[in-house]
Amino acid sequence: MKQIVKAILPRPALNKAVQIKDWVYFVTLSQKDFNSANLCSSETIPLSDIYADTDITEAWEKDHKIIAKAYGDEDSFGGVNPGDRRALYYLIMALKPKNILEVGTHIGASTLHIARALKQLNANGKVTSADIIDVNHPETGPWKQLGLKKSPKDFATELECIEYIDFDIGPCLDFMNETKQRYDFIFLDGDHTAQAVYKEVSAALPLLNKNGVILLHDFYPEAKPLYPDNSIIDGPFRALERISKENPAIDVLPLGELPWPTKQGTSITSLALVVKR
Ligand SMILES: C[S@@+](CC[C@H](N)C(=O)[O-])C[C@H]1O[C@@H](n2cnc3c(N)ncnc32)[C@H](O)[C@@H]1O
Repeated sequence: MKQIVKAILPRPALNKAVQIKDWVYFVTLSQKDFNSANLCSSETIPLSDIYADTDITEAWEKDHKIIAKAYGDEDSFGGVNPGDRRALYYLIMALKPKNILEVGTHIGASTLHIARALKQLNANGKVTSADIIDVNHPETGPWKQLGLKKSPKDFATELECIEYIDFDIGPCLDFMNETKQRYDFIFLDGDHTAQAVYKEVSAALPLLNKNGVILLHDFYPEAKPLYPDNSIIDGPFRALERISKENPAIDVLPLGELPWPTKQGTSITSLALVVKR
C-alpha cells in the first residue's frame, strides 16, 4: 500500500503528506526529559574569535587542500555543504573535544572533516558516526548509489584518519540509549523530522560531559527559507521550539552567517548550537 501511494503521489504532495504525518505524531508525542545540567552556554563558544583564529585557519588551509584533492569540494549528494564542513572543522579545532558523536554519516562529508580536525589535534580524539544504514556497504551504501568513488571508510583510510572514526550501524536512539560512553560534542544530522530531533536531543543531553556541545544541522529559524531555492526543513526548528517552551533553561543559537561561502551563493549556515540559557 505504502509503495502504491508513493508511486501515485507527485513528489511535493508526498513531501507534504510526510510533513503532516510527522506533525500529527509530534503533537501527540508525550513530553520527554531534557536534562541540561552538562550543556554548554553560548559564552563558552566565542564564535567570532573561533572563525578569526589564525592558527586554525592555517591548519584548515593545509587540510582543506588534502581533503578536497581526495574527496572533492562540492555541495552535492546530500552531505553537509563545504562552508559548513569548514565551520565544523573550526569548532572541533577550537573546542578540542575528545569524544564526539555524530548522528547521520551518509557520504561522510562531515565525518571526514571532523576526523581530519581530530588528527590535527593529535590528542587521541574519536568520532563515533552513527547511521541507520550501512553507509560503507559496497553495493547499497549511499556513496555507491550516488556514484562517488569510495565509501566514507575508504576515503578516511585514504585521508589517513580512519583511526579517529568508529562507524555504528543502526537507529541512533538505540545507540544513544545503550552506550555507556560520554561525549564532549554531539552533532545531530540524521532524521530531520520534529519528533526525531525532539527525541534525539532528549537522549543526547544525558550523554554529555560537563560543558558539552550539541550542534544541529538543517535548523531553519522560524521555519523560513534560508537559501535562494526557498526550500525549508522545518523539523529541527519545530523540535527546538517545543523543547525551549517546555524547558526555559534550553535555548538554540543559530550560527547564521559565516565568514566564508556555504551554499547557493550565500554565506548562510543552517548549523545551530543547543545551549543553556
Ligand atoms: C543528511 S544525511 C547526513 C549527511 C552527513 N552528515 C554528511 O555530511 O555526509 C542524514 C543521514 O541520517 C541517517 N539517518 C536517518 N535516520 C536515522 C536514525 N534514526 N539513526 C541514525 N541515522 C539516521 C540517514 O540514513 C542519512 O544517511
